[in-house]
Amino acid sequence: MRALVTGGCGFIGSNFVRHLLSRFRDVQVLNVDLLTYAGNLANLADVEKTYPDRYTFIKGDIAEKDAVFSWFDDFEIDWIIHFAAESHVDRSILGPDVFVRTNILGTFNLLEACRRFWTSNEESLLRRRFLHISTDEVYGSLPEYQYSTEISPYDPSSPYSASKAASDHMVKAYFRTFGLPALITHSSNNYGPYQFPEKLIPLMIHNALKGRVLPVYGDGRNVRDWIHVEDHCKALLAVLRKGRLGENYNIGGQSEKENIEVVYLICDYLDERLGFIAGRPRKNLIRFVTDRPGHDRRYALDTAKISEELRWHPVVAFEQGLRQTVDWYLDNQPWVEDILDGTYMEYYQKQYGERLNESQK
Ligand code: NAD
Ligand code: TYD
Repeated sequence: MRALVTGGCGFIGSNFVRHLLSRFRDVQVLNVDLLTYAGNLANLADVEKTYPDRYTFIKGDIAEKDAVFSWFDDFEIDWIIHFAAESHVDRSILGPDVFVRTNILGTFNLLEACRRFWTSNEESLLRRRFLHISTDEVYGSLPEYQYSTEISPYDPSSPYSASKAASDHMVKAYFRTFGLPALITHSSNNYGPYQFPEKLIPLMIHNALKGRVLPVYGDGRNVRDWIHVEDHCKALLAVLRKGRLGENYNIGGQSEKENIEVVYLICDYLDERLGFIAGRPRKNLIRFVTDRPGHDRRYALDTAKISEELRWHPVVAFEQGLRQTVDWYLDNQPWVEDILDGTYMEYYQKQYGERLNESQK
């Protein structure tokens, strides 16, 4: 099998490439990534060394149609696992343009390439798969005790989730209209190694470690369901291999938490491992700051479909996985320092500058 992975240098993509190559000896991976601020070759440095004959990297932009078509010209592709995206809600509020370009146009280009290179040969189509990685955020905010199923209506709130929703609809349209062998997954919030420290968990770990303020939006009681990235990767392989074409599958961690609870857990564990900071518990660093506009209150997934059809269940318990994640960040400080360059600080200033006063930044 030859797999084209898009966005393989990002958080989930890099974990997935490692997982795929270690699980299957007969798989070749072509990883195409633009190496935006979120893409980091260092995430796969070990993979390049371990699998020199089965792993290839190309720096490329999925929003460039000619480039996308050239990958299909040069490689016989059986599976596409499409992670490449702009993925951060806060950035989509600061500047939505690139979300439309990458998430919508980029996905469209990949679909067009599949239509051109795949659909003319029905026999070869049988072994092909287009796995589109979507999110629970397309279903929008839910009241307590409600869960999104795969047939819940879409109701996205942010430019990020709206762009993901648009790309999902295109994928579904290519399945229905052109018979593209596509599948769509909606996962909840991932955490684990190699996540860029702009998302809640790695940002809080980083700031708590440095004794910096922990900016919690609104009242901190927004709820997210958390899934360890390894559980997510296993679910993706199950969908790729056994999922029914044209179907959507929810992938959740069965671990709903209020944001403030997550931040408390991180503070407590760091205090336990390293002792208090400047003589005080890290919880003292928490500040409730101006809320994110359009902030969804709660996401929650009904995962009966994937567990009944594909026998997949998450196995990493949240507190355990969170502790392992904190340990990983502590053990990989050079990785963190290398990516927090001037561009990150510029973003941090834009996002949090007005929310925190000078002494708190
Ligand atoms: P990420 O931001 O860490 O990685 C995205 C990767 O895509 C980066 O390596 C980046 O360089 C690459 N990329 C961006 N624009 C590109 C372009 N135009 N061409 C080629 N490559 C490009 O994201 P992530 O958290 O790993 O998320 C991966 C996918 O999973 C996304 O599609 C996201 O919507 C989805 N998802 C993420 C989560 C989560 O909690 N992180 C949850 C559900 C779904
Ligand atoms: P995030 O990691 O950005 O993921 P998403 O918005 O895709 O769910 O945020 C997770 C939750 O944490 C969300 O409710 C927003 C909140 N949050 C904060 O309170 N402070 C922060 O600095 C960040 C980045 C997020």
